[in-house]
Amino acid sequence: MYRIDSKIDAKSQSFLDHKKAFQTILDEYREKLQSVIKGSSPRAVEKHKERGKLLARERIDILVDPNTPFLELSTMAAYGHYENQFPSAGIITGIGVIQGRETLIIANDATVKGGTYVKETIKKHVRAQEIAMENHLPCVYMVDSGGVFLPEQSNVFPDRFDFGRFFYNQARMSAAGIPQIAIVMGSCTAGGAYVPAMSDETIIVKDQGTIFIGGPPLVKAATGEEVTAEELGGADVHTQISGVADHYAEDDRHAVQICRNIFQTLEHKKKQVLELSTPEEPYYDPSELYGLAPIDLKKPVDAREIIARMVDGSRFQEFKARYAPTIITGFANIMGFPVGIIASNGVLFSETSLKGAHFVELCGMRNIPILFLQNITGFIVGKEYERKGIARDGAKFVHAVANANVPKFTVVFGGSFGAGNYAMAGRAYDPRLMFMWPNSKISVMGGEQAAGVLIQVKQDQLRARGEEMKAADIEKLRNSILEKYEYEGSAYYSTGRLWDDGILDPVDTRKAIAMGIAMSLNKPFDKTDYGIFRM
Ligand code: COA
Repeated sequence: MYRIDSKIDAKSQSFLDHKKAFQTILDEYREKLQSVIKGSSPRAVEKHKERGKLLARERIDILVDPNTPFLELSTMAAYGHYENQFPSAGIITGIGVIQGRETLIIANDATVKGGTYVKETIKKHVRAQEIAMENHLPCVYMVDSGGVFLPEQSNVFPDRFDFGRFFYNQARMSAAGIPQIAIVMGSCTAGGAYVPAMSDETIIVKDQGTIFIGGPPLVKAATGEEVTAEELGGADVHTQISGVADHYAEDDRHAVQICRNIFQTLEHKKKQVLELSTPEEPYYDPSELYGLAPIDLKKPVDAREIIARMVDGSRFQEFKARYAPTIITGFANIMGFPVGIIASNGVLFSETSLKGAHFVELCGMRNIPILFLQNITGFIVGKEYERKGIARDGAKFVHAVANANVPKFTVVFGGSFGAGNYAMAGRAYDPRLMFMWPNSKISVMGGEQAAGVLIQVKQDQLRARGEEMKAADIEKLRNSILEKYEYEGSAYYSTGRLWDDGILDPVDTRKAIAMGIAMSLNKPFDKTDYGIFRM
């Protein structure tokens, strides 16, 4: 593979100016991220520690193998909701390595409203389980939760992907041979009691863990019986009398050690084999991505420059380099893993779609995971293009992406607008993981286009009634739409609602994708079959 020949002068004034402007975006991101990570009330943290408990992220730290990465997902879930009283939506999820196996870890943060679940907490828990199911990752649940956040019950209890889905997923995964291990490190109340009860093996911590269908106040109200939490469902009860839990731990550390020991007994399943190469740093410095990440989405950026700072040795085997230049396709390695890359380089035309579809077929046939790098304004519009059948050709690309059964990963490094989001494996196309850069934007179309459409529609309505829209009203409508799209299109708006799996610092993209590919190998890739391509 040839090394990409970068045309960027990293010492030029324009590059340095861009880098400086991006630094402001990055600083804002880091500040917000820190505020979320340190987000629990100091009083709640103190109370938690006084009880001899470790914090949720500390628990994960000692659970994973030393010196291995933990890919935390959706750290900023629920950001901007509930006056930011639910940092990380009160639950930490991510992929870590335990006894050499990629594992999905779900840990309640009891310092956030007693570890209770609001809508985003549920979405995050279910999303983590989906990742485990798709990639056949064992699950560890570090339970410390008061169950449903009761004022929000209508948003968390009854629907298909609400609280009940956790247990359904556990049953389905267990049946599929995906190990389910629970460590009860705190409260585990009502429906939550089913997390350990439905696990393959359950550990419970002395004087800390409790499991019951109804807590002492409910028992008192229902039957008049007075009972302490410990008598009702503590570690002694469940490991000696009821048998609901299997292992008794002295404290958090001991519980984690028991869990690690359990991992030594798990069966090693057949993995997908990929042709690996020796991992190598990119030849061009990844921190130069700060000088390239699109800030003004109207200014084009050559996607090869982005790829050059992301892949091993900056080497790229480009496919159809001279054809349909608004999409860049080719093969590379990321930390030794082979990957097919499809990167936006402008608007999607008919020929761009065909090139994309062809490349997806190659990746499917060769069993190579695909990385989509999105900076997409959408498909081309206009009489000429409709007559040439842009809808039909675009559909081929969308069709190829939807049915490709190799793992897909998506990173929005600029804009993600319109049907371009679909063709480039947006959330609805089930990429195994999807990330945003802090500068990125996502919406059905750009704010200016949306304002233009809505003003046009309004003007047509009024003209049909013989009226004209006043200039001041046009301006007012335009500004309100621009403001709305700016706010709703931000990466924070997206990540707060779990439309993605998190925001990434551009330089971390390589590591996140490598971890994603490593996890995806735990389930041998399904064969790709295509339906009818409209010709
Ligand atoms: N719904 C809404 N809020 C809840 C809650 C619930 N189920 N459980 C706890 N909270 C809130 C508390 O009001 C408190 O809020 P604040 O920080 O604004 O004051 C915060 O979570 C911490 O609760 P606290 O009781 O002070 O913490 P704790 O660590 O001593 O106890 C629990 C935590 C979860 C064991 C305890 O709060 C409890 O038993 N809650 C009820 C659990 C329950 O019955 N759930 C049934 C739901 S299906």
